[in-house]
Amino acid sequence: MISFTVNGALVECVDADRKLLRYLREDLRLTSVKSGCDEGVCGTCTVLVDGRAMRACVLTVEKASGKSIITVEGLSAREKEVYAHSFAAAGAVQCGFCIPGMVLSAKALLDKNPDPSREDVKKAIHGNICRCTGYVKIEDAILLSAKLFRENAPIPQAPSSGRIGSDFFRVDAAQKTLGEGMFADDMTLEGMVYAKALRSKYPRARVNAIDISSAIAHHDCIRIITAVDVPGDIKCGHLVRDWDALIAVGGITRYAGDAIAIAVTSSQDTLDEVLSLIRVDYEELPPLTSPAMSLSDDAPNIHENGNILSRQILKRGDAETAIAASKHVVTRHYSLPFIDHAFMEPECAIAAPNGIDGLTLYTGGQSVYDEQREVGELLGISADNVRVKSMLTGGGFGGKEDMIVQHHAALAAWLTKKPVKVSFSREESLLVHPKRHAMEIDFTTACDENGKITGVKARIISDTGAYASLGGPVLQRACTHAAGPYNFGDVDIEGIAVYTNNPPAGAFRGFGVTETGFAMESNLNLLAEMVGISPWEIRFRNAVRPGQALPNGQIADESTALEECLLAVKEIYERAPFAGIASGFKNSGRGVGVHDASRCILSVESGKIHVRSSAACIGQGIATVLAQMVCETLHIDPKLIIVEPPDTARTPDAGTTTASRQTVFSGEATVIAAKKLREALKESSLGELEGREFFGEYDPVTDPMGSDKPFPVSHVAYGYAAQVAELDEDGKILRITAAYDAGSVVNPKSAEGQIEGGIVMGIGYALTEDFPVEGGYPKSKYSKLGLIRAKDAPEITVTFVRRNERTEAAYGAKGIGELCMIPTAPAIQGAYYKLDGTFRCKLPMENTF
Ligand code: FES
Ligand code: FES
Repeated sequence: MISFTVNGALVECVDADRKLLRYLREDLRLTSVKSGCDEGVCGTCTVLVDGRAMRACVLTVEKASGKSIITVEGLSAREKEVYAHSFAAAGAVQCGFCIPGMVLSAKALLDKNPDPSREDVKKAIHGNICRCTGYVKIEDAILLSAKLFRENAPIPQAPSSGRIGSDFFRVDAAQKTLGEGMFADDMTLEGMVYAKALRSKYPRARVNAIDISSAIAHHDCIRIITAVDVPGDIKCGHLVRDWDALIAVGGITRYAGDAIAIAVTSSQDTLDEVLSLIRVDYEELPPLTSPAMSLSDDAPNIHENGNILSRQILKRGDAETAIAASKHVVTRHYSLPFIDHAFMEPECAIAAPNGIDGLTLYTGGQSVYDEQREVGELLGISADNVRVKSMLTGGGFGGKEDMIVQHHAALAAWLTKKPVKVSFSREESLLVHPKRHAMEIDFTTACDENGKITGVKARIISDTGAYASLGGPVLQRACTHAAGPYNFGDVDIEGIAVYTNNPPAGAFRGFGVTETGFAMESNLNLLAEMVGISPWEIRFRNAVRPGQALPNGQIADESTALEECLLAVKEIYERAPFAGIASGFKNSGRGVGVHDASRCILSVESGKIHVRSSAACIGQGIATVLAQMVCETLHIDPKLIIVEPPDTARTPDAGTTTASRQTVFSGEATVIAAKKLREALKESSLGELEGREFFGEYDPVTDPMGSDKPFPVSHVAYGYAAQVAELDEDGKILRITAAYDAGSVVNPKSAEGQIEGGIVMGIGYALTEDFPVEGGYPKSKYSKLGLIRAKDAPEITVTFVRRNERTEAAYGAKGIGELCMIPTAPAIQGAYYKLDGTFRCKLPMENTF
């Protein structure tokens, strides 16, 4: 019997080998201690052991013997209020999954050193990875906590205004800081059982037979599910239904993450044992591991319709002639890797029977309505019989759009009539979910003797892996934005997305624009050199201004402030000896003629205004944005507002959290509803409106790709940015200076935090992150993904610029969730080119620091 104290109480455990993390989470239900990797790498499981910050996932219960363990639940009341305030005030909380671990690392520091420097703080949180914030605001929060403790100061008042432009505290900051918010894996249901899929042994193999007899005989096994058990359509997919929920006998696997069978067991601990008893007879087939192999004449088809998922063409003017007649022409080939989202919370879903013909699904994805529809199709039941409730989402970045765990949990619950949890390990997460596309890009950019861009020609091949996911739209966005935020008209851009037996690739922050933006911006640096002007100057001369057409034909609106972004970073660029610069732009909304609506209900309940929207908060803070939209419209006390989490039974369809769209789309739907409530409030008090509902819908129209309009409206809004990356003489990044046209900034602190996080992600993309795949098998472990830690995150300065007031949707806000990282990698590329004269065309860049 091992005994020790947890949060001051004596506990005893007979299982000395049990992981401390499991004991704390599952036996003691201390769910502030998160499992982000189970490999001792991420720090989300940080606890204090006799005052030292340690990782509970690498400790056994035996190691805790006689020690004192503290989790966030065990902090004093004063500590809880200080950390909750400081993390909210600093804007340090996004998805929140890393935050309890950060708080404990902070406590370990501050208990010993009440007046730390920023360097001390960086050192203290070295073991804690945050994928959302870029660390700046977490460091600010810890320094603010130190000050409040040191001075024994009272907790300052939170901002009382929720109006647009105020640093209103995020509505979920305190619950996330204190580990009280519930992620799916934090939840247990009465009688809950567990499920896990057996993954294919080979990226490409025919499944000849599946023998489940030994597995089903295991004492913990409740059921083994194979493809024949699927009652509805076995094919999943948001846009293209090509992804088999399970590979049937006789079928051919398409990647190493394909599911062959699902084991349902009474204990989570025996899932692997039961899976190991399933015998699969495979006929191994040679995998197609590159687009070139898939496109060869003798390549077998990965899907019925062939190996090409999508071909996109954007031609305007006559680029061929324009380039041929140009004074300067640059052509380079760019190679960009697969990258994993590495959101801190691995995927988890719980499904439970709801009556005799219904099901409730609890998960943390990017759209409860996509999940509802796809689960309904898989089970062969009406979507109305599936209720999806969102728990907190521990980061997404595009990687939680597909059916990854939800469908398997739903299927298992449907067939066993029990609540079922499917909870991924980090290893499974890396294996199964879609990645950022690997792309090969041939890119030609031309200009005249004055540096005015005359034409762009690009050929893009994207490896979309085994399944479509969002590969078609990602390629399309790579094409629509390839020529950058510049004013010229001759473009010839073609892209092709190719199926392979590599992991699927799908949505990932930047959505193709990060990739082609790197090529275009890098080429511009060479053109500037040929013209004899600076990289800043060539961008300034070409920057699109209001009233001018972008290369895709859309007229830049009056708010367009790329010129101002460039001016804001000019001085710092010119002053720094080794600096690179890049511009970027990104759409808000899906655009290109795709139906894209958002809806919101405001209801008056118990004297409060409930904001009911299914817009998923994946860390970006949409709940807070919607609260601010209501405050701006009604000028009311934010304490009167309750923002409900997405729930198909309560919140109307707001569309997916994708394409930097929620601030604009759900923001405007909320404003429309709030204006109706405002009218009603002219006649009645809030009390008199009890029970009333006010509905808002925003459903703008855009023009499709290939529209014959001279100036099509491709997207409802574009945000613009410029970034400067500065290096020291040893090649270490000193500072990133960023200027953003985000329209009216709803919550500056929150927007800054998004941008800082995106920039740090962009630094990783430029220098350290990779997801190598060999022979169709991912070769990366979590510890090898190259995620940036606090000590490697440079100083970041963010400024917001405006030109004219944009008064359209959502009080003129524009999305920044993706734009934040688009200019970072090319700005760093330019800085290294300046430093050592090596022009790097491959990411991650080699021979840097
Ligand atoms: S370090 Fe323990 S869960 Fe990641
Ligand atoms: S807030 Fe740190 S991982 Fe999301």
